Amino acid sequence: MTRQSLSLLAVLFALLAPLLLVNAGTVEKRASRTSPPSGAVVVRKSGAQTGEYSTVQAAIKALPNDSSARTIFIYPGTYNEQVYISRAGKTTILGSTTDTSGYTANSVTITQALSAGSTGGDNDLTATLRVHKDNFFLYNVNLKNTVRFLLVQIVRYT
Ligand SMILES: *[C@@H]1O[C@H](CO)[C@@H](O)[C@H](O)[C@H]1NC(C)=O
Repeated sequence: MTRQSLSLLAVLFALLAPLLLVNAGTVEKRASRTSPPSGAVVVRKSGAQTGEYSTVQAAIKALPNDSSARTIFIYPGTYNEQVYISRAGKTTILGSTTDTSGYTANSVTITQALSAGSTGGDNDLTATLRVHKDNFFLYNVNLKNTVRFLLVQIVRYT
């Protein structure tokens, strides 16, 4: 190689290196996931099989509170519950999905309706998913709190 082509290579490398570095840390976005990754604890609302759970909270309770990384996979459905998690290790929750283009395409929803009025004004206690830990990841799960405030004013004209 000539000295000129070597310096051209060096320039190319300098230009491309940052791209390569960025790429190495990027997680590829999946288009779908409809079955649990190996080792995952499974949540299935109806027809839960042996070793599976019908609520998300029951699956979380089944995880050891240690530093191990754990994954929970949730089959499609609407789960009516409040979820609290405080285990120490990395925890990932995956909702089954066939379309990762946006939240409206998600097939797993966790929903409940606790108002601050019902929890003595404590907003944390109203959350559908209460995450009291670091290292937590949630994918393709919609969270809802469907509380509605109904203000009824009774006016009496005398
Ligand atoms: C798990 O352990 C942490 C301390 O590492 C503690 O704060 C948390 O309450 C524990 N959670 C459960 C579910 O036992």
